[in-house]
Amino acid sequence: MAQDTRVGLLISGRGSNLQALIDAQKAADYPARIVRVISNIPDVHGLTRAEEAGIPTAVIPHKNFPDRQSFEAAIDAQLKADQVDIVCLAGFMRVLTDGFVSAWNGRLINIHPSLLPLFKGLHTHERALAEGVRFTGCTVHFVVPEMDSGPIIVQAAVPVVQGDTPATLAARVLEQEHVIYPLALAMVAANKARILDGVVHLSDVHFANQSLTNPRE
Ligand code: GRF
Repeated sequence: MAQDTRVGLLISGRGSNLQALIDAQKAADYPARIVRVISNIPDVHGLTRAEEAGIPTAVIPHKNFPDRQSFEAAIDAQLKADQVDIVCLAGFMRVLTDGFVSAWNGRLINIHPSLLPLFKGLHTHERALAEGVRFTGCTVHFVVPEMDSGPIIVQAAVPVVQGDTPATLAARVLEQEHVIYPLALAMVAANKARILDGVVHLSDVHFANQSLTNPRE
């Protein structure tokens, strides 16, 4: 796919992943372009980031709608008006109905702060620490009706270290989120990621084949 793959982003907050995508698309050969940022919450920092980058924004407050379907219909109408090809969820804090997810099947991606399928839902870092895992991380995946499921595009493993708190771990994971989201979006936009039997098959990408060990003596 060419540079003109049109991306719509849905956010609810600070928009640091949005910022990572804005920064990535500054590269002339980045295969996607953000054409709209939609927030369901007014006045969030993510909207300011988009405006500063010259990207059109829209605020569609879920509270203004009687139900999820009508809220999503408004989002869908905006995305269609902008001729969006791919929708990225980036800290969008509303559960989407099956109807919306099916309508955007294969063109809707999300970032989650854990190594899925572990730690779906909220408070991922607290739960990783409580389980004592030596690695956690983040995942970019295609969205399916079941929450925080769906074919995985890119993951980054992040070590958990002695003395980590949810905040220190979240910060370490977030740094990697900002690496893998632009990477995953580029793969999807460039048609390098295809879903076959519920799993993503990648072509023309590099795979690391070393094992990771944490801790090491
Ligand atoms: C990120 O941790 C993301 O993985 C999760 O929500 C957070 C959004 O952060 N889905 P930001 O708004 O992109 O800074």
